[in-house]
Amino acid sequence: MKIAFVGKGGSGKTTLSSLFIRHLAAAQVPVLAVDADINQHLAPALGLDDAEAAALPAMGARLPLIKEYLRGTNPRIASAESMIKTTPPGEGSRLLRLAEDNPVFDACARPVHLDGNAGTARLMVTGPFTEADLGVACYHSKTGAVELCLNHLADGRDEYVVVDMTAGSDSFASGMFTRFDMTFLVAEPTRKGVAVYRQYKEYARDYDVALRVVGNKVQGPDDLAFLREAAGDDLLVAFGHSDWVRAMEKGRSPGFDTLEATARSALRDLHETADAAYERRDPVRYTRQMVHFHVKNAESWGNARTGADLAAQVDPAFVLDERRAAIRQPA
Ligand SMILES: Nc1ncnc2c1ncn2[C@@H]1O[C@H](COP(=O)(O)OP(=O)(O)OP(=O)(O)O)[C@@H](O)[C@H]1O
Ligand SMILES: [Mg+2]
Repeated sequence: MKIAFVGKGGSGKTTLSSLFIRHLAAAQVPVLAVDADINQHLAPALGLDDAEAAALPAMGARLPLIKEYLRGTNPRIASAESMIKTTPPGEGSRLLRLAEDNPVFDACARPVHLDGNAGTARLMVTGPFTEADLGVACYHSKTGAVELCLNHLADGRDEYVVVDMTAGSDSFASGMFTRFDMTFLVAEPTRKGVAVYRQYKEYARDYDVALRVVGNKVQGPDDLAFLREAAGDDLLVAFGHSDWVRAMEKGRSPGFDTLEATARSALRDLHETADAAYERRDPVRYTRQMVHFHVKNAESWGNARTGADLAAQVDPAFVLDERRAAIRQPA
């Protein structure tokens, strides 16, 4: 299951991602955590110290390896250089499976042992963003590494990828925002918080994106009413101020089992909602959307950049379906 946490800067994306990752890991659910945000804070939120966080390999710096592995023997993709962030898989491409070891995870993912016996997650990070990364159509886009992985991922129902990311223009231009089974939009009860929700909803509407609002730093009935008024039934649940989170911020590591009961209950709601999204999965739609955004990116910059007609990379008969991939994928 592919899950995104998006929202305004400072709303609590990283905090709620890290809590959800802990919740899943504590429930023995395989989970890959991905930091794709401009502000790379997921590693410390998962309890890594500065040195450990700094030692994490950056996906953005390993794009050639990622592309080379994923293209496999796909005859439509002549070289890793001709692969852009939206290049879809086809016959011969290699798909990623969450539970396996593969060269992409070997190079980019690291195990994180969560505090207080909360289990283990794998963590991948895009690496810090620079000024040049903030463009809309960047060939070397750091989130492009994440998008490629998501588009080549054959994930089943009881395994999770949790992506901490911005609600920025990069994800709308590339189609990244359509790559998730469920998007949790974290909103504080403020005008700016709900403005980001409205903008996201606008983009999401045309693409059937499953979007739910998760309130954060909600302090009372008035805060809740404000979010309910703005988001209606899209509002799933709300987190209040958490002393547990604050203690983490102070560098203490309270056991996950001491997290406030209200927060634990909210995390169960997120899990149930994410799980139920499986029923909405439609491999044909999912593949059609990746092709749509690939053709769009090819026309707007990719063809010019690579000097090739990148629409020819599309394998018209291919459908990314995790059930078929389980049988078809060569060892
Ligand atoms: N429910 C909460 N209770 C207490 N503190 C919280 C809560 N949610 C978030 N915070 C605190 O608010 C600050 C911002 O949260 P966080 O870093 O998760 O936001 P973000 O959306 O990821 O921000 P950025 O856009 O900078 O990545 C952090 O100091 C975090 O500890
Ligand atoms: Mg963050």
